[in-house]
Amino acid sequence: MSNQSEKIKFYSGEDIPLELHKVRVVQKLHLVPIERRLEALNEGGYNTFRLSTNDVFLDMLTDSGTNAMSDKQLGAMMIADDAYAGSQSFVRFQKAVEDVLGKKYLLPAHQGRAAENIISNAYIRKGSIVPMNYHFTTTMAHITQYGGGIEELLYDEAYVINSKHPFKGNMNIEKLENCIQRHGAKNIPYIRMEASTNLIGGQPFSIQNLRDVRAIADKYKIRLVLDASLLGENAWLVKQREDEFKNSSMGEIIQAMTGLADLVYFSARKLSSSRGGGICTNDHEIYKELEPLIPLFEGFLTYGGMSVREIEAIAVGLYETLDESMICQSPQYIEYLVNALDAKGIPVVTPAGVLGCHVNVMEICKHIPQTQYPAGAFAAAFYLISGVRGMERGSVSNQRDEYGNETYADMELLRLAIPRRVFTLSQIKYVEDRLTWLYENRELIGGLRFTYEPPVLRFFMGGLEPISDWPQKLIAKFKEDFGDSL
Ligand SMILES: Cc1ncc(COP(=O)(O)O)c(C=O)c1O
Repeated sequence: MSNQSEKIKFYSGEDIPLELHKVRVVQKLHLVPIERRLEALNEGGYNTFRLSTNDVFLDMLTDSGTNAMSDKQLGAMMIADDAYAGSQSFVRFQKAVEDVLGKKYLLPAHQGRAAENIISNAYIRKGSIVPMNYHFTTTMAHITQYGGGIEELLYDEAYVINSKHPFKGNMNIEKLENCIQRHGAKNIPYIRMEASTNLIGGQPFSIQNLRDVRAIADKYKIRLVLDASLLGENAWLVKQREDEFKNSSMGEIIQAMTGLADLVYFSARKLSSSRGGGICTNDHEIYKELEPLIPLFEGFLTYGGMSVREIEAIAVGLYETLDESMICQSPQYIEYLVNALDAKGIPVVTPAGVLGCHVNVMEICKHIPQTQYPAGAFAAAFYLISGVRGMERGSVSNQRDEYGNETYADMELLRLAIPRRVFTLSQIKYVEDRLTWLYENRELIGGLRFTYEPPVLRFFMGGLEPISDWPQKLIAKFKEDFGDSL
């Protein structure tokens, strides 16, 4: 098979990601006037999670459950087997997990964080430490809920925003060994590796690094857990960037990764462009340890809190992860946007990762201290001037420490997610255009303060307000430059 992830060359020499799919179902979008966008922000506490899609033009909040589904996925949903127990839809899900991920025991869970709850419930005790390349919000919340803690063990390069390092998600092997020696292997229930490390800009790890982590896990007899939510994209980047695998198929790369882990879990909202999740392993003992928790927290073992229709879509979606022309679409759009912004000097995380384009707000809004949540303010400002909804990935997304003190994020990012096969290139160009305008007018953006702060995962439903009248000033400048244009 030809390498479909290779870009198709244009005679003009332009570097354009060409879509290898056609659009057959469409949904109308609304670009509401800037005055309405200001009202929407005020109603939603300057938190893009709290906006209604009626007020959103391009929804770049996340790729979770928002990737476009294929005709084959939608078709499969129609033949779902509605049964509480013993559903054939689950049998097809199991087969897909075995064929694609190479694991024969499967426990269904209704989404990624539900899998994290099950794993944390089984293995985390007070004082447990989980070494990981980097945390994800829900992962950390579950581990700390059960009395454990985490250690993030990336190489320094991972924190360098503008870098050429191909594998910023690699685990620092010396730090890992040091962490185990400090805490003692008995206090480490598992080591966690996250594919395409979400919170540092969707950055992958290499298979060589995963092998090195596995060697340490074996040496100290500690389980290795792989968060495979963004596994397909990590595999695709391995193919592009790790020489040993440049001629391997997606299936071979994926199983090279999953084969090194004792336990694999995933959010199917990401991995297979559907809605659900699962935990899988080839270790019967692990399977038996986790099994009783599924009926307790999720539902019976053949649906795990999911609709059987979604289970059918997951099964098909897992096979589609092996299709390079599908999996490369989002990373190629991201690369296009990242390179276009970078060429204009707008600070973005490089090299381009997966999931979305990550804008470096710490650099853009140097005038806003972290105490005033620069990434949150920038996300609100960008929505205001464009109708595009991104997600704050900075200090608002961090959680307070056990004494209630703020913990400021290593990076203040605006994430503009580019779900698979959802947007067109002119929409991506609109994002580039409005971001350029906002960058040039960045001094007008001011900070935010909390008006309502939930105790757990505060970024989801928290409310904030501007600390000055900066939104009005931004609108005045927008009107000056764009006149009546939306
Ligand atoms: C790496 C990673 N792990 C876990 C999760 C949690 O998955 P879910 O949103 O399905 O609960 C996500 C979701 O974005 C994720 O990106």
